[in-house]
Amino acid sequence: MIGRLTTAVEFTGEEASPWGALKLIGGSANPALAQRISDQLQVPITDARLRRFPDGEINVKIEDSMRGHDVFVIQPTCPPVNEHLMELFIILDALRRASAGRVTAVVPYYGYARKERKTQPREPISAKLVANFITLAGADRLLLLDLHAEAIEGFFDVPTDHLSPHRIFSEYLLTLGLRNLTVVAPDAGGGRRAELVANQLKAPIAFGYKRRTGDDEVDMIAVSGDVKGRDCVVIEDIITTGGTISKLAESLRRQGARKVLIAATHPVLTGNAIERLKKADVDEVIVTDSVPIPPEKLGPPLTVLSVAPLLAEAIIRVHENRSVSELFR
Ligand code: R5P
Repeated sequence: MIGRLTTAVEFTGEEASPWGALKLIGGSANPALAQRISDQLQVPITDARLRRFPDGEINVKIEDSMRGHDVFVIQPTCPPVNEHLMELFIILDALRRASAGRVTAVVPYYGYARKERKTQPREPISAKLVANFITLAGADRLLLLDLHAEAIEGFFDVPTDHLSPHRIFSEYLLTLGLRNLTVVAPDAGGGRRAELVANQLKAPIAFGYKRRTGDDEVDMIAVSGDVKGRDCVVIEDIITTGGTISKLAESLRRQGARKVLIAATHPVLTGNAIERLKKADVDEVIVTDSVPIPPEKLGPPLTVLSVAPLLAEAIIRVHENRSVSELFR
């Protein structure tokens, strides 16, 4: 695991905040990430005593008083998405009933983000429904990381901070000694994400044109841009089945790319995604710890960079009522 602070954390203590003491609570979705954030902040995690009733329903008992405190609940809603969402709702409800001063839901991976619009009649907009539930359950504000679609921020009527991992990726990529770099967006929707990295690395952008033929099948038709003889870094938000990456790597090699690296924020890696990535013609797949990766899936081609320092820094800034966007200037 590679990870360090992007800038120095200056935690001036709870007296700097109008919201009471900073408290951290971790759900069961990514306890390792919650612990890394806790280590960065040197604030312990308050035990939420998550347990199950015999019929599988979730119960929570927050162990310490939360009255008047500034509470951050760390819970990416990664698979099993519905379980982790329900757990988040129940923790938020418990905190509201415990008279917490302010509650921020820290959701580094947002489940259902890919259903942010209707593509056919009579479909839901599940990402909006999830936003409604999170605020209804008791979140006063949100801390989010690399949403599939930026518009999802607007689904919330409470303050949100939307973090980007582009600096984490760029700083790591700069250590690799890549030559004639081209940053690749897998599709037009990923243009802005790729642009952030390309600007930092002063590299040109190429675009993929993607046609999905099924839930885990993709036809990568073409890549437009300067890739021949160049080191190509694909900037992606999510790897789910690995279908997009495999097809894109094929196209890039066919068009003469010298190296193909992938930088993807959320390694959801369902089913045989890891086998697919191992077989794909890629030099390295760089991901973050926004979503936990089981030990058997770790190792080449994966490199894991931690987002804990970035999240910790944002939490301090929210707590002390300081700008979060400054982090990205
Ligand atoms: C979709 O548009 C996303 O940006 C990713 O490209 C997609 O989620 C990747 O999924 P998969 O790994 O299943 O191809």
